[in-house]
Amino acid sequence: MAFRALVLAAGKGTRFRSELPKVLHRILGKPMLWYVINSALKAGAQEVVVVVGHKRELVESFLREEFPFVKVAYQKEQLGTGHAVLVSRELFKGYSGKVVVLNGDMPLIEPSSVKAVAEAEGDMAVLTAQAQDPTGYGRVIREGEELLYIVEEKDASEKEKAVKEVNAGVYSFNSEKLFSLLERLGNDNAQGEYYLPDLVKLFKEEGLKVVAVKSNDFASVMGVNNRYELSVAEDLMRDRIVRELQLNGITIHNPKSVYIEPEVKIGRDTEIFGPAYIKGKTVIGERCFIGPYCEIRDSEIKDGARVESYTWMEGALIGEGASVGPFAKLRKGTVLKEKAKIGTFVETKNALIEEGAKANHLTYLGDCKVGKNTNVGAGTITCNYDGFNKWFTEIGDNVFVGSSTLFIAPVKVGSGSITAAGSVITSDVPENTLAVARSRQVNYVGKAERVREKARRKGLEHTRKDSRTQEKGS
Ligand code: UD1
Ligand code: CA
Repeated sequence: MAFRALVLAAGKGTRFRSELPKVLHRILGKPMLWYVINSALKAGAQEVVVVVGHKRELVESFLREEFPFVKVAYQKEQLGTGHAVLVSRELFKGYSGKVVVLNGDMPLIEPSSVKAVAEAEGDMAVLTAQAQDPTGYGRVIREGEELLYIVEEKDASEKEKAVKEVNAGVYSFNSEKLFSLLERLGNDNAQGEYYLPDLVKLFKEEGLKVVAVKSNDFASVMGVNNRYELSVAEDLMRDRIVRELQLNGITIHNPKSVYIEPEVKIGRDTEIFGPAYIKGKTVIGERCFIGPYCEIRDSEIKDGARVESYTWMEGALIGEGASVGPFAKLRKGTVLKEKAKIGTFVETKNALIEEGAKANHLTYLGDCKVGKNTNVGAGTITCNYDGFNKWFTEIGDNVFVGSSTLFIAPVKVGSGSITAAGSVITSDVPENTLAVARSRQVNYVGKAERVREKARRKGLEHTRKDSRTQEKGS
């Protein structure tokens, strides 16, 4: 069934007590509005119109970035959900198909529910759900099975308030009838607003057919009106994503502590230990291992790679069979080729680590290339920054970098070379060369005892001086 969607996102969200419009508050890294629009698209919406108002620039700039094809209607004053629909009228001129209207603050709405409402027969359909606690929602009043009207909580009698079937905030309409009857909405109610749900009554008065589509999952239609509800919705969405991954062949331990954002992709037989934060556009391949306490942002991890516990990475690419951590920090532009290894307390940035290369401990590799099968010893640092500019270090294949080598960039080390431990490499090293850049050691045989003797004498003098000053003072 073809339809167009209209999403209401002009409200301020007073109860959020925020500078940010309500619909831009995030669940798993994405604004609530993102989920609602996606759900409408997945359900088959051919076009999406969003009503913006409060801080419209912010909402519109989000839309331009994520959904450049959506159209925008502007509600200057927030006079109610009915009025919000009315301001979109121009955009539906000449359209006589179905319009599905959705509240912008229901991020858990499932495409299947949107579809069911769009496909419902009648001139108007309303999605409803049975709530345990209906507080705050519009109540659905029926006579027998027949839908009579919807009453907002603030306008409801005690008897109406006792009803647990609520208005979810998703409706479908015959477009022409919607816009012709909208003008007749009044605002004579507790909030002085034009209520969209009042259309139930108006449609019925016109002898038009109004139906209720009842969802059996209240959680998926919850409205988010404050930050507590935001956290509840986030947790439900988190659970939904984790479950879907599990059903698709990913093993997830301690699942309640696993936070995975909606655009993340993970391949089969990968194993993840919580707590874990996997964010943005991260893509993880098959048969990977992610140990506990990792945060992975916008990175790509190829098949069979291992990320050990307490690893943080952003914008990194981990090659097939490569391994990282525990306790590693991989910053933007880190590329590990196949079977490369970054170990404990190693930080990398803009670093190309070629196949089979290793930096196992306590190292900083920034703005550099490390060649194939090169071994970087503990305590190595690429000194890439001189206080003004960043410089590059290029290390060839099969190099043995001795522990605590400092590379004063820009500098190059040819393939097959060795740097002696503790070297400060300031100029290029040719291929197959041993570079020793440290002062020579001198051994004074027998001098150790004399040094200790001198130290003892000094100590004694010191205590004598100390006690004299104390005597004087007392
Ligand atoms: C609304 C329904 C209520 C339903 C509930 C479901 C009305 C009058 N009430 O109540 O029956 O049970 O949703 O969650 O519709 N908005 C605008 N312009 C406005 C007012 C609101 O764009 O002038 C937008 C808001 O940004 C929000 C959505 O419409 O995304 C719903 O508004 P909200 O104030 O949250 O309605 P509720 O009081 O929750
Ligand atoms: Ca709401």
